[in-house]
Amino acid sequence: MDVARIRKDFPVLEKEFGGKLPIYFDSACQTLRPKQVVAAMDEYYESFPACAGRSVHKMATEVSLRCDQVRARAADFLGAESPTEIAFLKNSTEGLNTVIFGSGLRKGDEIVTTDYEHNSLHVPALHAANTIGIRRKIVHSATDGTFDLDLFEQNMSKKVKLVAMCLTSNVSGYTLPAKEVVDIAHSYGARVLFDAAQTAPSQKIDVGSLGADYLACSSHKMCGPSGVGIFYVRSEVSEQLEPLMYGGHGISDTNYSSFKLLSAPEKFETGLQNYSGIIGAGAAMEYVSAIGMDEIQSHEIALNRQITKGLRDVPGVHILKPSDPNLRGGIFCFNVENLMAHDVAMILDNSKNIMMRSGMHCCHSFFHSRTIDGCARASVYIYNTDEEAKVFVDAVTELAGKFSKKR
Ligand SMILES: Cc1ncc(COP(=O)(O)O)c(C=O)c1O
Repeated sequence: MDVARIRKDFPVLEKEFGGKLPIYFDSACQTLRPKQVVAAMDEYYESFPACAGRSVHKMATEVSLRCDQVRARAADFLGAESPTEIAFLKNSTEGLNTVIFGSGLRKGDEIVTTDYEHNSLHVPALHAANTIGIRRKIVHSATDGTFDLDLFEQNMSKKVKLVAMCLTSNVSGYTLPAKEVVDIAHSYGARVLFDAAQTAPSQKIDVGSLGADYLACSSHKMCGPSGVGIFYVRSEVSEQLEPLMYGGHGISDTNYSSFKLLSAPEKFETGLQNYSGIIGAGAAMEYVSAIGMDEIQSHEIALNRQITKGLRDVPGVHILKPSDPNLRGGIFCFNVENLMAHDVAMILDNSKNIMMRSGMHCCHSFFHSRTIDGCARASVYIYNTDEEAKVFVDAVTELAGKFSKKR
């Protein structure tokens, strides 16, 4: 992978920020965007800033065509059988909520999750437990931080109607054995929802061969604009899935006493859409696909190996599990003894212009259950270099040397 060439597509990397070039290590939050994506979005506003699917004039038709092209690209990107299995939503959270509240779960039905769900799945699942009376079961991770398939199967029964799981953790970077999970869930008649917010940016997903029923991801974590979620619903189950919102678009007819919903995907796309965002998301998928998902994943893991090797034995640095960097993709979570995670992030920002995330990463329940106060998270992507990883390792080593001695 030609990182030097890729970096040229990201003008922000060539601009000083706070007097120095930035080292952007916060891509698990959102990635930077290449020129190609910004140009595609600008083209919409400058050349055909109309609305899709409603007006019949030429400009509106152009928007409809462009959005259809992105839908086909997204289907291809995720391995869906048909573009009609893809809906454009606001983000991953909207897709996850749509399934939890729209798939007909009733009192007494069970839903099985991991113990490291992002709040975007954890909170709707809790809310559904409180309001609908569904039972939530949690599969606790094995001590090495991996997914415990045996424990998962022990939690399964015919009462489980939905297995809703984070495919790749935004804290550990770990990806669970998706095919095994789907096969076990389906053998009990349960449907499977994957939160692929952290998977889609750097791994090839093939929903067709996985057999997942629903999957949600976000454009802003894979070089696209914020405000666009890509939501996959397998065609066999889309009839039974209700939208989260009702209104204009998504409707074929109304009278004063009734309405008719369009079928998927339109019924999930209520109200006027984020057209420039959808077009930008299409350009982003084209961009990352041209680099190659396998290449992206290998690059992330190579940097993670370098960082892990550099920091593994440094006194006062504690790396979150799994300890094997090959299982953590581009995510490296750690703590420095005697320092709060926010302090680590602020010091590295101030001293080296390393920009990363700190805190509980919207996974409060995961940290509370382990009585950890959060952590600092460095997350790398296609534009990060070996040299940047070295600056990071040296900076964290220096920090740990200063602070971990003060007991
Ligand atoms: C694993 C995971 N799931 C869900 C989300 C929520 O994504 P969004 O804010 O785009 O809805 C995130 C965002 O960080 C995430 O990392």
